[in-house]
Amino acid sequence: MLKELQLTNFRKFTNLKLSFKSDSIAIVGGNASGKTTVLESIMHLSTGKGTFPSHAYVKNGEKFFRVKGTIVSSRQPPSEIIVFFDASKREKKVLINRKLAPRLAELIGLMPTINLNMNSLQWIWGPVEWRRKQIDLLLAQTDRTYLETLIKHYRLLEQRNKALKTTHDNALFITYGEMLYETSSIIRKYRLALIATLNELIGPLLERLIPDKAKSLELKYVPFDDGDWQSKIEKEKELGYTLWGAQRDQLIWEVGGTEANVFLSRGEGARLALATVIALWLWTARKRKHVTLLADDWEAFQDRKYLEKVPSFLLSVKPSNSSIFIASLNRLKESQWQQIMLDNQ
Ligand SMILES: Nc1ncnc2c1ncn2[C@@H]1O[C@H](COP(=O)(O)OP(=O)(O)O)[C@@H](O)[C@H]1O
Ligand SMILES: [Mg+2]
Repeated sequence: MLKELQLTNFRKFTNLKLSFKSDSIAIVGGNASGKTTVLESIMHLSTGKGTFPSHAYVKNGEKFFRVKGTIVSSRQPPSEIIVFFDASKREKKVLINRKLAPRLAELIGLMPTINLNMNSLQWIWGPVEWRRKQIDLLLAQTDRTYLETLIKHYRLLEQRNKALKTTHDNALFITYGEMLYETSSIIRKYRLALIATLNELIGPLLERLIPDKAKSLELKYVPFDDGDWQSKIEKEKELGYTLWGAQRDQLIWEVGGTEANVFLSRGEGARLALATVIALWLWTARKRKHVTLLADDWEAFQDRKYLEKVPSFLLSVKPSNSSIFIASLNRLKESQWQQIMLDNQ
């Protein structure tokens, strides 16, 4: 669990130090007080990145940013993570317990996080690439083999696409193709298992949030049919890129076989997005010791008819081995929260 956080030249903060004493933290402050910034700094510790390009996080007029986090767990000694970005060199460095990590990927999985914010609405209305990326990030945070396979898959894809543009040697892209077929099948095995469990975990949540449609909602994973990939080579040589593989698989919410995005109201969609994120949170908590939900813009998911307050709902479903950081405009009433006030300057 995250115990301490220190931000240097990170967006609006020159130097901000926070200590956490609970696994349920409310970051409270008015508009532009830096709530989202705090959540995004935790995202950096978890994945090495935020939602914007790195240079956007460097405080105006400064040359670098640094995010430092101290994590404690009951089993292991405290670990310290530092993410450092040098704006002039456009270079990012990660230090784990003061040792320079050979690559950014070393960070993935040390402190798994999952996001609930306006972007989560893309579970319903966004492009399939976005959903695939979320699933990939979650699987990568919980399983090293998945992370390594995914890295290998994208490297092979890049090499194969390059070969398709530059070589006439069919044997080369058949070799890459065979390896890509292998990585695709491993990736699919993990993704399909996750989606199956997710559909189970989400059932009780949907009964609470969208009772009349709970039974007919299903998250569908549709693998791209690439059994005949060899027959695509001539076309691929023309186009210069690979036309098949796990990077093309579909992932979509359906209501009784119809795409949910054309079927659900805005309110229902928002509640389905909320349920999806929570189900993924529960899934990750089952896999890992500790997982942190980063909840921003929770008002977007509020719906008077089914949900009085999202914060108390989140507390009611929180797995015991997980944490919440929630950004809120106002103080929250539940006593479980450690409330950290950010001042407006
Ligand atoms: N690179 C930066 N340098 C300085 N200030 C920044 C930078 N990026 C964002 N800000 C400022 O941070 C504030 C937004 O912080 P944010 O975390 O989004 O606040 P909140 O979520 O509490 O509304 C804005 O006032 C914005 O101008
Ligand atoms: Mg914000």
